Amino acid sequence: MEQYLIHGGNSLVGEVEIGGAKNAALPILAASIMTDETVHIDNVPDVRDTNVLMDAMGNVGIIIKKENRHRVTINAANISSTVVCDDNIKKIRASYYLIGAMLGKYKHAEVTLPGGCDIGCRAIDQHIKGFRALGAEVVLEHGMIKTRADHLTGSHIYMDVVSVGATINVMLAASMAEGKTIIENAAKEPHVVDAANFLNSMGANIKGAGTDVIRIRGVQKLHGSDYTIVPDQIEAGTFMLAAAATKGDITVRNVIPKHLESITAKLIETGCEVMESGDQVRVVCSRNLRHTHIKTLPYPGFPTDMQPQITVVLGLSEGTSIVTESIFENRFKYVDELVRMGANIKVEGNTAIIDGVKKYTGAGIAAPDLRAGAALVLAALSAEGESIVDNIRYIQRGYEDFDIKLRSLGADIKVVDRDNDYRDFKLMTG
Ligand code: EPZ
Repeated sequence: MEQYLIHGGNSLVGEVEIGGAKNAALPILAASIMTDETVHIDNVPDVRDTNVLMDAMGNVGIIIKKENRHRVTINAANISSTVVCDDNIKKIRASYYLIGAMLGKYKHAEVTLPGGCDIGCRAIDQHIKGFRALGAEVVLEHGMIKTRADHLTGSHIYMDVVSVGATINVMLAASMAEGKTIIENAAKEPHVVDAANFLNSMGANIKGAGTDVIRIRGVQKLHGSDYTIVPDQIEAGTFMLAAAATKGDITVRNVIPKHLESITAKLIETGCEVMESGDQVRVVCSRNLRHTHIKTLPYPGFPTDMQPQITVVLGLSEGTSIVTESIFENRFKYVDELVRMGANIKVEGNTAIIDGVKKYTGAGIAAPDLRAGAALVLAALSAEGESIVDNIRYIQRGYEDFDIKLRSLGADIKVVDRDNDYRDFKLMTG
């Protein structure tokens, strides 16, 4: 199994191109099956989660062609089944978008219950509530969600929690329901807006995405489209924090600075300089970092998907910082690994109390999930000495060419294979 071998201590300097947003690509790929016409999607990140979803779509007769690494053409006219029970699909959370898309178009879907990163209880009650409000029957049995409807009718749906997945899923199904649907307490993340924009480019009638009330007037038919996915806010944020963690100077290119505002604000509070121009943001960290406090919140609050990365940075900041995780209850699992690298962090419930240390030291560590894995890589890059990061398959779910991009900024990181190189490394380091 592959791992990252990292020799820490280099300040990362240079420019890095940010790819398309994974969490926008997933619903957009699923939505592309809602028309019999051909859809072209550009800026699709070449990461494990998008590839697993496309493979599962291919297994039910949907034609998917990669025109190049990031541009795909999809035609679902000859879909052979609305039952998706692919063994791999249950590993990704976003399998649930196939339910909303298939229910909307075919009024039937059976999909293996979603998996995804183990970051806490990941309920789907709001998705189900939304589908039922549109008139669908929904049952959970044999590890599958099964849903069908004679026809879908628009409805007024109040989400009990702000949920990215439920908002998008209901939006998908409601796009082809009869009449008007209103989603209240909707999620406002950039990927919710991107999914709505994509559906509108196919002829849907969705208004208000990006606010907490989304209004959808159902249409009978959607048509083909040629669409480019927005840049990945979380990939960009991760590289911005890499500049802070390694006292570097990184320009993230091809980003939407507005999407990064909460991250920018916190970096400025810690003493970094952040300069925006056009579609790029430069982060320079030339002095000692200061503590600050963070609470994760739905957009436009500080994203839960950046919580581990900012904790790594605050672990190196002067003073005591407090990080409160309010979205997922199990998202501090990486802290034990960070403590093994010398961090002084105590977790109490959903709060981490961080007393900054001057440096981390290299260690053998394991990524517990996607974003925590990326955060541990940042810690290892800033640390004194060598680290081995295990379970990098999690990181590959959502970061394209992470090691290659980091190397282009001066990082000493390479992929090694446990059975070969790691044994040599262990011999060398005892
Ligand atoms: C999406 O997950 C993202 N995944 C996650 O990114 C991200 O962390 C999360 O949104 C929050 O921003 C994808 O887009 C594929 P939610 P999702 O529904 O949709 C509760 C990453 O690292 N909830 O917004 O599953 C839930 O338990 C991944 O890229 C219910 O109670 O998240 C959580 O506390 C990890 N009932 C909160 O809402 C429901 O029916 C937010 O979850 C749905 C959710």
